[in-house]
Amino acid sequence: MKSTSVKELLSGNLLLQEVTVNGWVKTFRSNRFIALNDGSTINNIQCVVDFEEFDDSILKQIATGAALKITGTLVESQGRGQNVEIQTKNIYVHGIADPETYPIQPKKHSLEFLREKAHLRIRTNTFAAVMRVRSALSFAIHNYFRQNDFNYFHAPIITGSDAEGAGEMFRVTTLDQKNPPLTEEGEINHKEDFFGKETNLTVSGQLEAEAYAMALGKVYTFGPTFRAENSNTSRHLAEFWMIEPEVAFNDLDANMDLAEDFIKDVINYILENCAEDLAFLEKRLLDEEKTKPQAERSDMPLIEKLKFVADNNFKRVSYTEAIDILRNSKPNKKKKFSYPIDGWGADLQSEHERYLVEKHFKCPVILFDYPADIKAFYMRLNEDGKTVRAMDILFPGIGEIVGGSQREERLDVLKEKIAALGIDEKELWWYLDLRKFGSAVHSGFGLGFERLVLFATGMGNIRDVIPFPRTPQNAEF
Ligand code: 4AD
Ligand code: MG
Repeated sequence: MKSTSVKELLSGNLLLQEVTVNGWVKTFRSNRFIALNDGSTINNIQCVVDFEEFDDSILKQIATGAALKITGTLVESQGRGQNVEIQTKNIYVHGIADPETYPIQPKKHSLEFLREKAHLRIRTNTFAAVMRVRSALSFAIHNYFRQNDFNYFHAPIITGSDAEGAGEMFRVTTLDQKNPPLTEEGEINHKEDFFGKETNLTVSGQLEAEAYAMALGKVYTFGPTFRAENSNTSRHLAEFWMIEPEVAFNDLDANMDLAEDFIKDVINYILENCAEDLAFLEKRLLDEEKTKPQAERSDMPLIEKLKFVADNNFKRVSYTEAIDILRNSKPNKKKKFSYPIDGWGADLQSEHERYLVEKHFKCPVILFDYPADIKAFYMRLNEDGKTVRAMDILFPGIGEIVGGSQREERLDVLKEKIAALGIDEKELWWYLDLRKFGSAVHSGFGLGFERLVLFATGMGNIRDVIPFPRTPQNAEF
């Protein structure tokens, strides 16, 4: 018989019919009630077993984690907690899970413990809910761009360019490590890494996206990006997914409008389509917060926070205004920030960003027009000659979620900038071509997907919103 998902069974459409369901045992109570889940929803289907009808050898195999196929009649449930249940007629054990060794038992496991079990943690309600929301967000993102006439463009993963100029790249090399070609100075000649070119894993698909925007108008990438930064924070991964739209003829204001509209749209999508998972995650968070001191608790429950972001304008503030606010602020009575803002030109630390968002404006903030010296080479220089048309979007509880800019479209200005930074023009010959042939104003941004998932699920650590996190500690799986 064709099997039915737990989600479909719980909808009640198949009442009084004979049904088959496959799934994993969550709990088996009193030798009578199996709570079965197949990942289609946070909720379980209760399968009622008349133990006199089944051989002991079968019942013994039913334990948390075992994979079963159950056939029976879907009936209205007399018990509390569920509308329907299955009167079990047949049980087939696909695979057992020995309670002595199966790590995921029906009790509370810490997130740290589960991180060590990345291959099994998706069997907990928390991780299943997070990963379903992650999947729904991916869909919503593609959907948004599709509806707005963007073309999905695949940026290369192996590339010769360092888009951010930050030098945080994973080298890709085909060189014989035991016998590498050497430079005249006797060092490994990385110019020979990949058929005569130094190559690395991409840190951003932006430069290539610009080439595509200058032909297809509106494009976006959504793919993995890599940063070899040794940051052990709850916001950084060595491998993360980034969404990067790039639009010809958009200036910075249009770029901000796009980013804000896009984020609100995908949040609305999950509010509409992931209500049960979000309600579960909200409750999880409220329980967790009860153990924290009052001051550290969030002032809004998860779903209210998502609605707030979806329904209210982001605050747009220039870097210069933000510096003034920070200089005049009193984050706490005695001490200001652990990294004081030295003056105009300094980069903001995450504590400054979070102060602006969480204490001062109390809403998402778009900071724009940053000093040229602290931003990447490709950003468009303003008339003042010292700031660039950059924008960062800062989110409560997260900090920076988006980094973007209007790009420098003037060949001469871009060349000067490249020269001043000591970058060899030849390395960017194709990028400069885009300014030689049919150049135009254009803009784009990068949204860190895991930071969005963090915000959407209320999870506290970025390692818990990506299936198999890659951090300096964790690349085992
Ligand atoms: O601010 P970033 O470095 O900007 C760029 O890469 C631009 N080229 C994007 C563009 O304009 N097309 O990175 C963009 C976003 C950050 O705001 C952050 O959300 C995320 O990517 N991000 C990370 N997420 C997880 N782990 C890391 N190590 C991250 N580094 C950046
Ligand atoms: Mg950034």
